[in-house]
Amino acid sequence: MKKIVSLVCFICLVLFSTQVFSQSITFAVLSDTHYSVSEKNKTWKQFAFARKTLPQLLKKLSHDPGIDFVVFPGDLFMDPLASALDPLKTLIDTHLKKPYFVIPGNHDRPTKDQINEKMQVFSLMDFVKTFKGHPYPDGVTSYWSLDYNGYHLIGLDSTKDEPLSGRVSRAQVAWLREDLKKNRDKFTIIFVHHGLDLFCTKLPMERGYTIDNYREVQKIIKNNPQVKFVVTGHYHFSAVRVKDEVYHLTMPTLVTYPLKYAVFHVEQNRVLYQTIKTGTKDQRAKAANGLVEEPYWRKKFKQDADLIRFFEGIDSLTFQPRP
Ligand SMILES: [Fe+2]
Repeated sequence: MKKIVSLVCFICLVLFSTQVFSQSITFAVLSDTHYSVSEKNKTWKQFAFARKTLPQLLKKLSHDPGIDFVVFPGDLFMDPLASALDPLKTLIDTHLKKPYFVIPGNHDRPTKDQINEKMQVFSLMDFVKTFKGHPYPDGVTSYWSLDYNGYHLIGLDSTKDEPLSGRVSRAQVAWLREDLKKNRDKFTIIFVHHGLDLFCTKLPMERGYTIDNYREVQKIIKNNPQVKFVVTGHYHFSAVRVKDEVYHLTMPTLVTYPLKYAVFHVEQNRVLYQTIKTGTKDQRAKAANGLVEEPYWRKKFKQDADLIRFFEGIDSLTFQPRP
């Protein structure tokens, strides 16, 4: 009898372990949506296209049983105009019937100049309050962590009151250390708008795209092997970088050629990353023309084709997260 009970316990344990460790998550990433109420397309940023595409895409993701949730890793807005805050929130809530999580980007809070120019802007606190529950639990703190199906997700706030560069605040660094300490045994994914490392060293301006204290945050990540990969926005192209065995992936966007979003399928031992085109061939051609007309980018590449290829970036990638 004793043997039978032991055998049943063993089988239950195996079944339970299989259940726990076979858990996976699949999520879509819509980065740098740059929503505006009425802005037209402008060279490399197809604002009107993205505004029109977003509701259709949110509906599509809502009906996709394979998608667990959606992440918006910053720059949800073109500019932090007060007139755009509620319309975008309403648009997302109307069309997206899945859990969604946001973090702020540099366009989601006003710069010093915008405040001095007395633009009608929303503040970072307005952003956090508006997106309370996604997942901001208190509607006050601009960074967060949560557990989803056994995976630990962390959303950092890398913004400061300047147009391009970023920083993870001192208080947030202390919180990050503590959060990682409390969740050492969980597969962890970090979302942060600015890069934590360089994605294209040939671009001289690139250091301005990362956070100022990248070394400090990199070191924390290195010392916490449960952090398996980092998802960033800001760059508008799909690229990968491996630093200290940690995968850093920067996301494509709906507003910039080739008008893409991303999907991650995450298992304990394997991550599948895929980027998905939106729009028609003509719309993508228009976005490509806009890109090569943008002097800032054009001058960094000898040939238009090189610039186009660079922005086409990664279509798909499978990688093994560090042990
Ligand atoms: Fe950005």
